[in-house]
Amino acid sequence: MKADVLLGLQWGDEGKGKVVDVLTPHYDIVARFQGGPNAGHTLEFKGKKFVLRSVPSGVFQGDKINVIGNGMVIDPALFKEEVEALEAAGEPLHHRLKISKKAHLILPTHRLLDLASEAAKGAGKIGTTGKGIGPAYTDKISRNGLRIGDILYRFDEKYREVVARHMEILRQYNFEYDLEKLEKAFFEGIECIKRFDLIDSEYFINHSLEEEKKVLAEGAQGTLLDIDFGSYPFVTSSNTICAGACTGLGLSPQKIGEVYGIFKAYCTRVGSGPFPTELKDETGELIRKKGCEFGAVTGRPRRCGWIDLVALRYSIMLNGVTQLIMMKSDVLDDFDTIKACVAYQIDGKETEEFPFEITENLKPVYVELPGWKTNITNLQSEDEFPEELNAYLNFLEEELNVPIKIVSVGPDREQTIIRYQE
Ligand code: GDP
Ligand code: IMO
Ligand code: MG
Repeated sequence: MKADVLLGLQWGDEGKGKVVDVLTPHYDIVARFQGGPNAGHTLEFKGKKFVLRSVPSGVFQGDKINVIGNGMVIDPALFKEEVEALEAAGEPLHHRLKISKKAHLILPTHRLLDLASEAAKGAGKIGTTGKGIGPAYTDKISRNGLRIGDILYRFDEKYREVVARHMEILRQYNFEYDLEKLEKAFFEGIECIKRFDLIDSEYFINHSLEEEKKVLAEGAQGTLLDIDFGSYPFVTSSNTICAGACTGLGLSPQKIGEVYGIFKAYCTRVGSGPFPTELKDETGELIRKKGCEFGAVTGRPRRCGWIDLVALRYSIMLNGVTQLIMMKSDVLDDFDTIKACVAYQIDGKETEEFPFEITENLKPVYVELPGWKTNITNLQSEDEFPEELNAYLNFLEEELNVPIKIVSVGPDREQTIIRYQE
């Protein structure tokens, strides 16, 4: 058996959480492979809404096993909050959530270093989620990090050593903080983590595949935030692309099956960094309002713009996407016309490739399509799609050369339409 991978093709918040929840009934195991509580994955069903940060999105579909993979970074304090919120909602996790011993810990001082570094950058800041993601991955790569498995043996000693080093760095910033309060929550979180099954998740996942169990790997963030291929330095600190599922779960490339690539019918971005199709006008405002485009983690307004096919083709290439999923189609219900960027013009020359650097000189080349001007949120099947929506889907499939298998028409689990039913 091979593992399927589901990941975002834009700058995150494509709707990964919703689709993982919808697909989970077809799987035995859902495993997150990178990122941490910078993610905010929203799920809606039966009038309820949940936002998951570190816990995989397969926890609301019965007793499926969920795995926090080695590629993730975990903040114990935030993890405990998440676990308690789920327990309070009648969703105890202990028997169905396993955590890799090799996942790295986000320490309170990682969070402080993230905030201090952003404050020092001023106008040039990345606009991080402030969750300590960059500093935690920095320590992992520089071989100074602490892992989940470390909490089982002489943890206090190891913790103090790392924190002493962080304090040295923090002294160079003029940054005030209250570490004691953060540490209390951190150590309570460590106790919470100890009550879970801490595993060698690479063995667990591979043995499960050998036993013909079906595994869905859940990505966080999006391809354009990838540390290698995103709009560097305005990116996150992990590999968000499909290869991240190999390193973040211990899967060999031969064990990857379907790759589901998720995109919004338009495009959004939170934080700083280039965004070629951004609309800083009334149209952008309309999309933000209709799409409720405010960050699930930080509440920050998301920047909105038209769909960018240059960026999507790039993402599809990097991930080897086999099936596309179009989200938030209903957000475009009211538009007379919809634009799609098919190429970039840079210094007068047209290109269909995502450039090394996106500067002011880049101008998107648009194709305009008619809008459907119909409320599609209650549609039940593809047969009911308005002609213009079908035309938009056909246009995208032709441009992207991958079938769009699922169309989402609202935030609820039920508002999901599968195309090409066999
Ligand atoms: P994720 O990080 O990729 O899981 O996405 P987020 O949860 O951060 O953001 C997606 C937002 O869009 C959430 O508020 C979802 O409830 C909502 N959503 C998902 N699919 C749809 C859809 O098809 N239509 C609308 N209107 N909202 C959607
Ligand atoms: P999900 O999984 C959207 C963005 C931040 C910032 C940059 C770096 O919900 O799609 P970080 O805190 O990771 O160092 O921030 O990445 N970012 C996201 N944007 N969705 C996310 O996750 C994001 N996670 C990080 O806004 O620009
Ligand atoms: Mg999100």
